[in-house]
Parts: sequence; structure tokens; C-alpha cells
Amino acid sequence: MRCRICKGKPVIYMPHHRLALCGEHFTGWFERYVDRTVKEFNMFSEESKVLVAVSGGKDSLALWYVLRKLGYTADGFYIDLGIGDYSEKSTEKVREFADRIGAKLIVEKLSESVATLPEIERFTSREACSVCGLVKRYNFNKVAKEYGYDVLATGHNLDDEASSLLSNVINWNTKYLGRKYPVLEAEEGFVKKVKPLCKLTEKETALYSVLNGIDFLEEECPYSEDANTIFYKQVLNQIEEKFPGTKLRFYLEYLRKVYPVFKEDKEGKITSCKVCGEPSPTEVCPLCRLRERVLNLNLNGA
Ligand code: AMP
Ligand code: FES
Ligand code: ZN
Ligand code: ZN
Repeated sequence: MRCRICKGKPVIYMPHHRLALCGEHFTGWFERYVDRTVKEFNMFSEESKVLVAVSGGKDSLALWYVLRKLGYTADGFYIDLGIGDYSEKSTEKVREFADRIGAKLIVEKLSESVATLPEIERFTSREACSVCGLVKRYNFNKVAKEYGYDVLATGHNLDDEASSLLSNVINWNTKYLGRKYPVLEAEEGFVKKVKPLCKLTEKETALYSVLNGIDFLEEECPYSEDANTIFYKQVLNQIEEKFPGTKLRFYLEYLRKVYPVFKEDKEGKITSCKVCGEPSPTEVCPLCRLRERVLNLNLNGA
């Protein structure tokens, strides 16, 4: 097998695109592919102010790097969850990376607004990953609006999207099937959200990062992805091995055929949280309720 462009030694073969490429041509292809995805889904334009949510991992740092290389205005946003050594290392990676590319980085420390994630888990006996999801959703939206960004971008890749789709299909979670899309338009209280890497596999984003000297944190969060997600990713990879191209087709055909059918399935009414003013399904939003609980427990000496 040879690189399709220069006939040199390939570093990757992508059966779903029937394409083998060398390092240099893979980098160029990857960047054009991200740009095409941004345009295909009308994610943003050259005039937009984009805030990239970065974790220190390969996907989000690669996304930030590519968007800036493509000429978009993209700053970074990082939430320090206070997960001991793991958060210290990711904070360092993100800060170093921002310095290297000369980009603005906004940092939010969870310990300053509520408590560290391990403390919250201890105080409330709520699962760390579900609290983490809540904290991220809340802050991505709030901070992007506060600083005047037009759109918030995350580094979700094809493996993330296809595996969560599979688990929701298996459970016929139709609410999810009407919500999951690489672009969520801005609505009252909500900033626009996009996933420009949604058509690229984890392997492809990892290779791009390595080839471009992106110094990302390889270590997984100690709470890690839940076992079910890991399992669904493995199942999809097994199917992919037997039927190359299935993973991308599964996701793209969902976007084309299934999402439009379930799209109307909207969630209940959204109001404004009476404490923080952010959009909420209840009078006081889930994050303010969590903060109240942690504060009360602290005061009572828990
Ligand atoms: P995850 O939910 O860990 O798979 O992460 C999905 C996406 O959320 C990443 O690609 C990032 O864009 C973003 N993200 C994850 N963790 C953080 C964090 N601590 N701060 C800011 N963004 C994050
Ligand atoms: Fe959210 Fe680990 S990064 S629980
Ligand atoms: Zn080549
Ligand atoms: Zn609130």
C-alpha cells in the first residue's frame, strides 16, 4: 500500500475512506476534513468567536490547534475539576499548550465555585462522572455567554458519538435520538454548541496529535469513562474490523435518516434558575442545588 498522493510510505490506511496516506498528506487531509465538516453543518464562519473546551487530552487539543491553523478565532476554556494529580497534570498540559500556540485560555476552578469533584462525591454520594457532566454542561454554556463567544466547540470524536448512539439505540432511548446532533443551535439562554471532530475516529485524532507534536495528557481520568461506554466502543471496533466502514456509516446514516424523524421530541419547559439565572428545567437549577447541598453539609461539619 502507498500514499495516494505521493506514493510514499503510508502511516495510516482508512478503510472507511479507502484511503492510505503518508504523515504529511494525512495532516493536510485531516485539516481539510475538519474544515469541510465545519462548513457542511454550518458550525461557524471566519467571523465567529469560537470557544474550544479543552481537557488536556488529544481530541480537544487537536481541535483547538486545527481550528487556529485553519484561521478561525478560537480561544480555550478549561475546567479544573480538582481531581488530585490528574487535574494538576492536565492543567499543566493545557497551560503549556496555550502558551505554545499563543492563544487565550480561560480557566475555571470548580473548587472556587463549589468544591473539588472528589469532595463533592464524598459529601453528596453522587457519582463523580454524573456531577462532572453537569458541571461541564453548565460552565461551557455560562462562560461562553459571559465572555461573548458565538459558539462552544468540544472535541467529541466519531468513537464517542457512535458508541453513545449505539447504547441509546439498544435501549430505544428516543429522546436522545432527537437531540444528538453535531450542531445544537443557540436558544434562549443556550449558546450554540458544535462537535467539529464528530466524523474522525479516535485513532485519526491521536495520529494527528502525534504527527503535529501536540503534547497531550495520555493518562485517563481516574473516574474514567464508565464501563458501558468502553464496552460499546469495543463492540463497535469489533464490528468495524469485520465490516470496515460500519462505524462512520452508522453515525452518518443516523444523522441523515433517524435524527430528522425524532427531532421534534423536545424536552420539557425551560425556565431561568432563580439563584443564578441560567436556563433550568426546575426553579433552582441542578448546579445551584448541588452547591447549596455542599455548602450546608460543610456548615454542618460533614
Ligand atoms: P469527555 O466527556 O471527557 O469525553 O470530554 C468530551 C469533551 O468535553 C472534550 O473533548 C473536551 O472538549 C471537553 N472537556 C472534557 N473535560 C474538560 C475540562 N476539564 N475542561 C474543559 N473541557 C473539557
Ligand atoms: Fe469527568 Fe473524570 S473527567 S469524571
Ligand atoms: Zn504522501
Ligand atoms: Zn442556578
